[in-house]
Amino acid sequence: MDLASLETPVPVVDLDIVEANLKRMQDYCDAHGLALRPHIKTHKIPALARRQLELGARGITCQKLGEAEVMADAGLDDILISYPLVGEPKAERLAALARRAKMRVSIDNPLALETVARAARHGHEIGVLVEFDSGNGRTGVTSIDGVVELARAIRATEGVRFDGLMNYPVSARSGEILRDLLPRLKAEGLEPPVISGGGTPNAFRTHEMAPVTELRVGTYIYNDRMTVGAGHARWEDCALTLHVTVISRPRPDLAIIDAGSKVFAADIMPGGPGEGHGYFPAYPGAKLHKMSEEHGMVDLSACERKPQLGERLRVVPNHVCPVSNLADRVAFARGEAFQGFTDVAARGRSQ
Ligand SMILES: Cc1ncc(COP(=O)(O)O)c(C=O)c1O
Repeated sequence: MDLASLETPVPVVDLDIVEANLKRMQDYCDAHGLALRPHIKTHKIPALARRQLELGARGITCQKLGEAEVMADAGLDDILISYPLVGEPKAERLAALARRAKMRVSIDNPLALETVARAARHGHEIGVLVEFDSGNGRTGVTSIDGVVELARAIRATEGVRFDGLMNYPVSARSGEILRDLLPRLKAEGLEPPVISGGGTPNAFRTHEMAPVTELRVGTYIYNDRMTVGAGHARWEDCALTLHVTVISRPRPDLAIIDAGSKVFAADIMPGGPGEGHGYFPAYPGAKLHKMSEEHGMVDLSACERKPQLGERLRVVPNHVCPVSNLADRVAFARGEAFQGFTDVAARGRSQ
């Protein structure tokens, strides 16, 4: 069966491109002595996580407990949850995970530490990383004193282990913070065994930016329009494309495709909403400028050659992780040969 016979819209993952992307990152990490801990948020598929480990990754990263539960059910071990867990129900679920997998969690506040400590009271030690913020304005302790204080609190808490530091996205600023922070921790006898940094766009510059020991990258497995835009990848490194069909051509400069916001995520490019929601390799001037749930409106005014009614198009999404999250299953392919469907088992796990 070839790809042209699959019903659209359908996300197609080229396994040859996946393999090349995984090897490139593993080689980079090996060359620079970094432990690779891929973030599964991009693919959410246990078989791909297993392949990442086979190629040399040291463990995996999940954002939510629900993702970690799916991965543990599939037999994956050594899981970092790079997200603060807060509350008793989370502690219960973390304890259940810790019974069957080696677990680590990143925290940035005492309440999240208390949640991990409660989970550890069920009898399995859990590793804790302190997340520091290097300008992202999301989670992460924002002062060096704050990191030291939280690391001390971890040391003083029974059942948890201070495993080190976590940061996202790793940047030159992360390096500056670590230069001041590491001597402070050393003076306290709290040298971090692990310094975990993450983010695909600058991944291959990690060794120049900060003294991290571990790299958490997710998007690198598929790449997308944003990673190409950031200079991290080329169009031919984009492993996931959405295959869609032109279902209407109401005006010469307008094509309607059979995929809208149920299939494409809403992420906009750094240049703003004017850049549209995806890139059409066969029609670089085409712009997916508007979407309703089931329709995609493609402006063709900048295309010399225009797609025909009924034509199948391929689209590289702006940001691939939320696109994976919208799909129940993806089609695996090698070149034009269809290899079968695979469930996106950890999709939608928001808890
Ligand atoms: C905490 C954390 N670590 C790592 C990553 C992986 O980033 P990327 O997909 O750019 O590789 C993310 C992505 O959102 C993240 O939130």
